[in-house]
Amino acid sequence: MSGFREVLLKTETREYPIYVGRGIINYLPKFMDGFKNSRKCAVITNKVVNSLYGEFVEELLSSSGYVVHVVEVPDGEECKTLRVVERVYDELVDLRFDRYSTVVALGGGSVGDLSGFIAATYMRGINYVQVPTTLLAQVDASIGGKAAINLPKGKNLVGVFYHPQLVLVDVDFLKTHDVRDFRSGLAEVVKYGVIMDREFFNYLVENRSKLLDVSSDELTYAILKCCQLKAMVVGEDEFDRKGIRAILNYGHTVGHAVEAYSNFTLRHGEAVAIGMCYEAKISAALKLAEESVVDTVCSVLSGLGLPTHIPVDVNTTKLVELMRRDKKSVGGKIAMVLLRDIGNSFLVSDVPEEVVVEVVRGW
Ligand SMILES: NC(=O)c1ccc[n+]([C@@H]2O[C@H](COP(=O)([O-])OP(=O)(O)OC[C@H]3O[C@@H](n4cnc5c(N)ncnc54)[C@H](O)[C@@H]3O)[C@@H](O)[C@H]2O)c1
Repeated sequence: MSGFREVLLKTETREYPIYVGRGIINYLPKFMDGFKNSRKCAVITNKVVNSLYGEFVEELLSSSGYVVHVVEVPDGEECKTLRVVERVYDELVDLRFDRYSTVVALGGGSVGDLSGFIAATYMRGINYVQVPTTLLAQVDASIGGKAAINLPKGKNLVGVFYHPQLVLVDVDFLKTHDVRDFRSGLAEVVKYGVIMDREFFNYLVENRSKLLDVSSDELTYAILKCCQLKAMVVGEDEFDRKGIRAILNYGHTVGHAVEAYSNFTLRHGEAVAIGMCYEAKISAALKLAEESVVDTVCSVLSGLGLPTHIPVDVNTTKLVELMRRDKKSVGGKIAMVLLRDIGNSFLVSDVPEEVVVEVVRGW
């Protein structure tokens, strides 16, 4: 086998590989042979991804001696519900799935979250493999073992920490990715540079235009680098309790608020791009970072075609209220990842509200 790189994710409780390359979906059966499994697997996917890749993956696994069942779930967030979870459990019971059967998550972050939740809970945990097909899922959602589903009262309210046996990142899946979704995923790529790796950030700035080409080596390298950085962070703070993993939330306090305020008409990554700019600006307003850091962050994001400003007509009070409800918030205080510089970030659990209001209103 050639043409791929392996990143080892090592935590206190688990160790597993993340394979990154192009065309490496063909190695999936070989990689799966590396762990104990009963050669029975359910490929969980949705209509869109199934129509593009379902048959190919089914055939690939069946021709290697796997008994394969494709389980189709609704597209996007619609699949992350208890109703869908129950329906898939039912199918697995009917298929007589045992503890050594395997769930293969074939799709974006929503399919990945649903599949991880199901794999973690069916028979108290069965094998599972992540095959992410969106940029966001390849650089973020498929790595690190977090899986959550939504409740009617909110997103990602019920979840688990449960790692896959392996993650297979085939960059070629992105060739069919919707352009807006792809650009939105680039916001998370930039995020890694901003929060923890100045050199990588500079690489992204220098290769900005090539990153927009899904066939480029620069994109493959950037994805690999993100997988390495995420694996490093997760390795140091598997259960998100030490404030280290929390830095991955940079841009997300403002971002989630803007995303919810927009009634999810903004893509997640677009909202995060806006959040990254505002959280940089708040860092500067608090004299933690130089104003030039704000310009640097905003300019790379706008160069990638991402938004950098909150729409003018927002109600600041409502937006700040949404920020207070963020998962990182304790005791109603605004928590946010702030910057000292490019590549240097930290979690602040009590950001002065008046500064947040001033920046949101006045910038
Ligand atoms: N568990 C985590 O650590 C984590 C981290 C970040 C985000 N998430 C979750 O990820 C989800 C968002 O993920 P997403 O942005 O990948 O969205 P998504 O999974 O909804 O996918 C976006 C769209 O792209 C389509 N699609 C997927 N792959 C495709 C391909 N190769 N070609 C064409 N179309 C394709 C999907 O069908 C969907 O319509 C959210 O639910 C979020 O909560 C989880």
